[in-house]
Amino acid sequence: MKRYLADEAATIAFGEEMLDALPDDLAGWTLLLTGDLGAGKSTFARAFIKAAGHTGAVPSPTYTLVEPYDLPRGHIYHVDLYRVSSEDELRYLGWNELDNGCRLVEWPDRAPGLTSQADLSLVLHYEGDGRSIEIVPLTDRAKKVSATLIPN
Ligand SMILES: Nc1ncnc2c1ncn2[C@@H]1O[C@H](COP(=O)(O)OP(=O)(O)O)[C@@H](O)[C@H]1O
Ligand SMILES: [Mg+2]
Repeated sequence: MKRYLADEAATIAFGEEMLDALPDDLAGWTLLLTGDLGAGKSTFARAFIKAAGHTGAVPSPTYTLVEPYDLPRGHIYHVDLYRVSSEDELRYLGWNELDNGCRLVEWPDRAPGLTSQADLSLVLHYEGDGRSIEIVPLTDRAKKVSATLIPN
């Protein structure tokens, strides 16, 4: 499934729509956000986290690696692996302990093994003045979720 996102507002709306499409209890869901610098990964993540009820800032996890949010729909862990260079480093950020919440991962390609643990791969591309996003379900439950999203 692919969506064209004409502008920033469309990316934000899609982040909100993605959250709505997921079950109420987000625990254990892992979403991978792939795309070049400026493709809109953080824009999507910010919209998703705010739609889940967070009202403050959504700082970049580039240096902290993980920014945790404790929200009505459960924990959301915004993870940025840009500075990670191997799977081994995942334990420094306590990756395994983040399974009580929803893991939203930027730069997942830094730890390719994550694909086997993820539910959905979201791939952003530059397209004209806007972006496109490919939604690739990796688990059966994610297939059900992505089936509720309509291409444009
Ligand atoms: N669909 C879109 N079309 C055009 N510009 C967009 C779109 N979505 C987001 N943007 C803009 O592109 C930039 C994306 O930045 P950011 O979300 O930080 O990207 P990343 O985290 O992938 O590096 C922001 O300036 C944002 O306003
Ligand atoms: Mg980013």
